[in-house]
Amino acid sequence: MTTRILFVCLGNICRSPSAEAVFRSLSEGLDVQIDSAGTGAYHVGEPPDGPMQQAAARRGYDMSDLRARQFTAADFDRFDLIIAMDADNLRDINRLRGASQTPVRLFTDYAGGAGDMVPDPYYTRDFDGTLDLIERCAQGLRGSL
Ligand code: 4NP
Repeated sequence: MTTRILFVCLGNICRSPSAEAVFRSLSEGLDVQIDSAGTGAYHVGEPPDGPMQQAAARRGYDMSDLRARQFTAADFDRFDLIIAMDADNLRDINRLRGASQTPVRLFTDYAGGAGDMVPDPYYTRDFDGTLDLIERCAQGLRGSL
């Protein structure tokens, strides 16, 4: 059965589209559907952030076709697993939960000892550090499925 996984950050232009692209490239042989969304509406309809795309492209991840969208309560029904990049995302997602039982996890839960958040490179400018951590979390997620 297909496992539908949604990655969520704030803007859906840095961390969650990167997580989507990295996990897509890692998911060969897995029966998964992958998407990403942002809790905020600031960048809806926009492609991923330019420097983020460039850092990802240097590692072979193409996310140029992705466009930002906002997380909605309907996503609880559309996905089997929702993965948040930080505790703020987790709180904002759970505020829309209603009666859904869909699990919401922190991405770093899949990478033991990696801290409790994926830092936002929109502010840190450490795009490669964020990609390093996303790759580690994605490996752990793959191993958990
Ligand atoms: P993201 O980073 O949540 O990793 O996509 C952000 C990008 C832009 C903004 C916030 C977070 N913003 O408020 O413009």
